[in-house]
Amino acid sequence: MENREQWGSRVGFILAAIGSAIGLGNIWRFPYVAYENGGGAFLIPYFFALLTAGIPILILEFGVGRSKRGSAPLSFSRLSKRFEWLGWFQTFLSFGIITFYSVIIAWSINYMIFSFNLKWGDEPEAFFYGDQFLNLSDINGFNFGGIQWHIFIPLIIVWAALFLIISRGIKKGIEKLSLIFMPILLILMVIIVLRAIFLPGALEGLNHLFTPNFDYIVPWGSNPEWGQVWIAAYGQIFFSLSIAFAIMITYSSYLPKDKDVNNSAFITAFSNSGFSFLAAIGVFAAIGFMANQAGSDVSEVATAGLGLAFVAFPQIISEFPAFNEFFGVLFFLTLVVAGFTSAISIIEVVVSSIMDKLKVSRAKATAWICLIGFLISLIFITGTGLYFFDILDNFINSFGIVISGFLELILLGWFIKLATIREENNLVSDFKIGYWWDIMIKVVTPIMLLIMIILNFRNEFSESYGGYPLSTILIFGWGALAIMVVVSAIMSVIKWKDSQEGIR
Ligand code: PHE
Repeated sequence: MENREQWGSRVGFILAAIGSAIGLGNIWRFPYVAYENGGGAFLIPYFFALLTAGIPILILEFGVGRSKRGSAPLSFSRLSKRFEWLGWFQTFLSFGIITFYSVIIAWSINYMIFSFNLKWGDEPEAFFYGDQFLNLSDINGFNFGGIQWHIFIPLIIVWAALFLIISRGIKKGIEKLSLIFMPILLILMVIIVLRAIFLPGALEGLNHLFTPNFDYIVPWGSNPEWGQVWIAAYGQIFFSLSIAFAIMITYSSYLPKDKDVNNSAFITAFSNSGFSFLAAIGVFAAIGFMANQAGSDVSEVATAGLGLAFVAFPQIISEFPAFNEFFGVLFFLTLVVAGFTSAISIIEVVVSSIMDKLKVSRAKATAWICLIGFLISLIFITGTGLYFFDILDNFINSFGIVISGFLELILLGWFIKLATIREENNLVSDFKIGYWWDIMIKVVTPIMLLIMIILNFRNEFSESYGGYPLSTILIFGWGALAIMVVVSAIMSVIKWKDSQEGIR
């Protein structure tokens, strides 16, 4: 147990944690979620969720990983034998994400290549460009329609790169990559934002994003669906900070025992939010420019979801006054870099759990996990693959992660001595956290999550997600979650290879 790998430096750990947090979620997700949910007013539920859930849970997970020194299943089982299942469930939720997250990175690579001649619209194989992107042939059922080969090669590159980095381990693989990629990511983003805010019309875009629509987020306002705004804020915080996904527990399990966690949690959380704001400014400045070019209103051109990055942006970049190719490449490179550092954190979570449980070598665990992940991700580069992953993404975010977060808080808050974790954290940290933290973990956030779970179930049963055929919802939604629950149960009854590990 004592020869567990370790980070080489505190900066390395923090940059890796920030690398996991900052991902595609900050660039394409945050801007449109904020926009759709009341613009500037969204920042109120967003900060509420950050302070009551995001930061407290980060502190909790960093603390658990640092003191229990194991992957999520191992750390949880060291807290109590009965908690192990939750560690596996979180691990498999992460694994579920990587199966389609890797595909989005592959698209980004593809689009980066298209950017060199800006011919994305004309390439015959780029049939997912433009309207067709979100309007694939046949949504009534399973149209696998074969693999789209132009995404196949980038997808192989993504998985091969994941394998190469993770098999090198914590210090030589993940830490080294984070030390190089994170500064590059920041520089790329700053260049893009600086370009975007000086485009004609940029200001209108920013006005649109930041004009607060307070009416929209309160029960007495104009929006009968105001509760959804709060749900979206919590959802964004969990996804964006990679919490309740086993990730932060795993990363902090490689910390030397005497290293700060409280301050690191604040640094990680604020860097992540800062990057999200930066991205939102860039994105909305660009959308303002697009509206300006088209002579229309910003609200008409703002698109949500994946269409933002893969439909609106190619169009916007093509209309840039100069250096279009350059900015096209830069934008999609930014997506690739941001996505890749998040993807490695997910693979590490699974690898670390398998290594702990089955005592296999890192190389072997990584090879198997990358192979299985790659094979599953192939589903998402077929005909209606886009819909399948939209469903999976939605179910992981509206059910998987809220349930995982809720259970984590109840188990750690009420079934063990939570105050011990706080006291241990305070002993090693730059500054101390107070009793407010216990209240967030034990009371405030569980209540919010419970409300979310109830509302999400109610929504899903009154009107199933996205109007997809029931068969696809059953398989890629409920079915996928059920598989995660069952496989987690199987993993947690298997005996620990080294009987010493399970106890403690
Ligand atoms: N936090 C990452 C993002 O914002 C996504 C992610 C979610 C990564 C869950 C790992 C686990 O894109």
